[in-house]
Amino acid sequence: MTSQEIRNQFIQFFKEKNHKFVRSAGVVPFDDPTLLFTNAGMNQFKGIFLETEAADHPRAVNSQKCIRVSGKHNDLEEVGRDTYHHTFFEMLGNWSFGDYYKAEAIKWAWELFTEVWKIPKDKLYATVYQDDDEAFELWETLTDIPRNHILRFGNKDNFWEMGETGPCGPCSEIHVDIGGDPAIDGSHPELGVNTDNPRFMELWNLVFIQYFRDENGDLTELPNKHVDTGAGLERVVAFLQGKDSNYDTDLFTPILDEISNLSGVKYHRDEQGMAHRVIADHVRMLTFSISDGALPSNEGRGYVLRRILRRAARYGRNLGMHDAFIYKLVPTVVAVMGDAYPELRERVAYIQKVIKSEEDSFSQTLDRGLQIFSSLVEETRSVGQEKLSGESIFKLYDTYGFPVDLTSLMAEEEGIGVDLPAFESLMNAQRDKARQATQFKQTNSQDSAWGMIQDGAHSEFLGYTHPQLDTSIAQVMKTDKKIFIILTQTPFYAESGGQVGDTGRIYNAHMELQVLDTRRDGDSIVHETQLISGEFNTDPVIAVIDIKRRGHIIRNHSATHLLNAALRKILGDHVKQAGSLVDDQHLRFDFNHFEKMTAAELTEAERLVNAEIRKNTATNIRSMSFDEAKTEGALAFFGEKYGDEVRTVKFGEYSHELCGGAHVQATGDIGFFRIESEAAIAAGVRRIEAVTGEVAEEHARLERSAINELRHLLSSDVEELGLKAQHLLDEKKALEKQIKVLSFDQAASVLTNILGNSQLIQGVNVLSEVVEVSDTEALKDLGSELIRQMKSGLGVLGTVIDGSPYVVCVVSDDVIAQHKLKAGDIVRELGQQLGGGGGGKPQLATAGGKDAAALDSVIAGVFDLIGERLG
Ligand code: ALA
Repeated sequence: MTSQEIRNQFIQFFKEKNHKFVRSAGVVPFDDPTLLFTNAGMNQFKGIFLETEAADHPRAVNSQKCIRVSGKHNDLEEVGRDTYHHTFFEMLGNWSFGDYYKAEAIKWAWELFTEVWKIPKDKLYATVYQDDDEAFELWETLTDIPRNHILRFGNKDNFWEMGETGPCGPCSEIHVDIGGDPAIDGSHPELGVNTDNPRFMELWNLVFIQYFRDENGDLTELPNKHVDTGAGLERVVAFLQGKDSNYDTDLFTPILDEISNLSGVKYHRDEQGMAHRVIADHVRMLTFSISDGALPSNEGRGYVLRRILRRAARYGRNLGMHDAFIYKLVPTVVAVMGDAYPELRERVAYIQKVIKSEEDSFSQTLDRGLQIFSSLVEETRSVGQEKLSGESIFKLYDTYGFPVDLTSLMAEEEGIGVDLPAFESLMNAQRDKARQATQFKQTNSQDSAWGMIQDGAHSEFLGYTHPQLDTSIAQVMKTDKKIFIILTQTPFYAESGGQVGDTGRIYNAHMELQVLDTRRDGDSIVHETQLISGEFNTDPVIAVIDIKRRGHIIRNHSATHLLNAALRKILGDHVKQAGSLVDDQHLRFDFNHFEKMTAAELTEAERLVNAEIRKNTATNIRSMSFDEAKTEGALAFFGEKYGDEVRTVKFGEYSHELCGGAHVQATGDIGFFRIESEAAIAAGVRRIEAVTGEVAEEHARLERSAINELRHLLSSDVEELGLKAQHLLDEKKALEKQIKVLSFDQAASVLTNILGNSQLIQGVNVLSEVVEVSDTEALKDLGSELIRQMKSGLGVLGTVIDGSPYVVCVVSDDVIAQHKLKAGDIVRELGQQLGGGGGGKPQLATAGGKDAAALDSVIAGVFDLIGERLG
C-alpha cells in the first residue's frame, strides 16, 4: 500500500461515517497569534471548539500539514537521530464538533486499525487518562483489545494541549509494538509503552476536548464536548509498509535517493545516515512552509526557517556538498507530495528560488564558520573548559550566521557543552543597541517622495476575481514607519463606495510586507504597508489579500444592497441611500426617511432580506452605459461619481444598483442577516446597523445563551418568559409593600414603649431615642407617627442602617411658633456630631453621618441641647 493510498483510505473511512473532508490549512496559521506554525490538525478548528465560529458540518476529516519546531510542541532535537520524529509531518485526523464523543472515536479508530488495515490486535496498546474510567470501560466493552493492553497514564502522556493556551482535554492514545527489543520483559511488554523505547510507537491520539486553558493557566469547561484526533501519517505508513523507520517509506526514499545522487554518498540506515535524514526532513519543512507564504528572516517564524535551512546546509557539508543543493531537492518533494497538496506544484520555481538565495548567502560564511568552530573547540579543550563560551557562540552567530541550535548540535557531536546563558546575555546587549539605533534612524528619515520603479500603466485592479497575484511594484514611497506601494496589477480593493480597503500581504523571496490598508489616490491604488521581515526590494512580488476578511466584507456589502431594496418595498420609493459603511464586522446603511421605523417594519426588513438570501440568487455583474443602467432602473447613489461606463450589480429582480464594490457570488453566501439597531442621525436621515454571516450567528448565539440562562433561572418556556418575569416583578412589588407595612407596624409598637421616656424641658415635651428600622423612609414615617402621638413637643429618633447613623427630628407647630425650635436647625447640629450633615423643614428634618458609634451619646445629648436652646 502506498502512502497516498493510506492517506486516502483514512479520509474515505471517515467520509463513509458522514465526515466532511476539509482541506489542510496552511502551515502558516492565518490568524492565530499564539502559534508560529500549524502544529496539529485541530488548529484550524480552534474557533469552533471555543464557539467563536460555527462548524458547517458536525464532523470533519483531513490530513493536515504540520510543523513542530517551536513552542509547546517541538520535536527538532529528535529529528534525524530517531526514525520517527519530524519537523514537518502530516496528521490524519477526524473531528466531532459537539457531535459524537468518546465511544465512536474509540470504536472507529479500532475498526480502521484492526479491520481495514488489519493491524494485529495483540500488537496494539491503548492508553487512557488516569481518571478517565469512561474511556477505559469503552475500550473494554467496544473493542476486543486484550484487557491488559489498556493502560492508564497521567497529565504528561494523556492530557493534550495545543499550546500554552487553547482548547484541551484528556486523551486516549493507541501505541503499536513493532517488536525487536528483547530487553523488555516478555510477560510484561506493556511496561515499554510511553518510555521512549523505540519498540513502542504512538500511532494515534484521540483527544476528548472539553476544556479551555487561559493565560493564567486555569481550565474552564467548554460549552460542548468535542473529539480531536491525530495520527501521524509517516508512522502509520511505516508500520503498514512493514518498515521500522519512517525514512524507509515511499514518503522519504525518493528524497533520500536524490540526496545520495547529489552527494555521491549512500544512505545508511544507522547513525551514519543522520545527515541524509536531517536533510530529507528539513527540505520537506522548507518546501511546505515557503509554499504557504513563510520566508527565511531574522526573527520569529522566518528565523525558524533560516535555522532549519542552515542546519540542512551544514549537514550537506558533512556529505561533501559545498554548493547550494537543498533547492535541488524541492522537485522530488513535490513529486512525492504534489498529489495530496496540489498547491506545491504551482510554486516549485518560487520555492527553489527562495531556498537557493538563502543557501547562497549562507554558503559565503559556512565554510569559514566551520573552520572557526573547529579552532574554538580546540581552544576550549586546550584551556581545559568543558563548554564553548558565550563569546564563541555569539561570534559564530553574529559573524558566520550559525544559529545557536546548530552550534549546540555541532558542539554535542564534539562532546562539549555550550554556555547558553552567557550567549543570551550577549544577545540581549546587541538587541538593546539595535533598538537605540533604529529609533535614531526613524526620527531622522526624510525620505518621503514617490520613487518610480516602473513606467507605464499601474494600479490595474483584478481583485474581483483574483485574491492573489504575481505582480510587480510600480512606485514606492517610504516614510519613517510605513512603505506606500503602487503595484502594476493588484488584488487589493481600495476603499470606496463605503467598502473598506483590503488588508493582506505583499512578499517575495527577500521581504514580507504587511498591507495595513488600501486607498485610492486619483487613479492609483495605494497600499499602505509595513515591512515585517527581510529587506525591502523591488523584485517581483506576490500580492495576496486577507481572504477571510474580504469574505466578511463582501457578505456585508451584498446584504446592504438587499436591505436597500427591502426598505424601498416596506417604506416606499422615497427611501434613498444617504451613505454606507461596509467592513468586516458589520454594515451601516443611512437612508432618507422621516419617522422612526416600527418594530414590525424592522422585522419585515430582516425577513425580506433573509428570504432573498435563501433564494440564493446568483449575482449578476455587468458593465453598461450609465444611461442604459438608468433605463433598466438601476439605483445610483448620489454620493458617488460615475463615468460613462458603469458597473451594475443585480440580484435577480430584487435589487439592481450601480456599484464598484466586491460582492458574494450568490445571495446564499451571505448566510444570515440581522438588524442590530435603527436610529436617527440627522433630520430625515435614519441609520440601520446590521450584521451578516458568522457575526450574525455569533450574536444569535449570545442571545440564545442569555435566554437559556433566563429559562433556566425562571424554569420557563421561551413563550412564557415575559409573563413569568412580569409575575416576578409584580410579586416583588407586593412583597416590598408588605414589608414596609410590617416594619412600620413593628416600629410603631415601639413608640408606645418609649413615649413614657419624654422629659419636660422649659415646658417643652422632649423625647430622644434610638430605634430599629429597616430604612430611612421608615425612620421618617416613624418620626411623623411620633409627633402625631406626642401632639405637642419635639422628638428625635436615631438608628443605624448598613453601618451608618441616621436621625430624624420632628417638632410640633405650636413648639415651632412659641419656642422658635426648628427641626432643620437641630438636625444640622446632630448631623455634625455624627460626622455628616442634614437638613429639612421646621416640622421634620433628617441627618446622616459616618460615626455610628457616636449615635447613642448624640441621642442622649439631645435633652441638653434643647435645654441650651431654650436658654
Ligand atoms: N490534536 C491532537 C494531537 O496533536 C490530536 O495529538
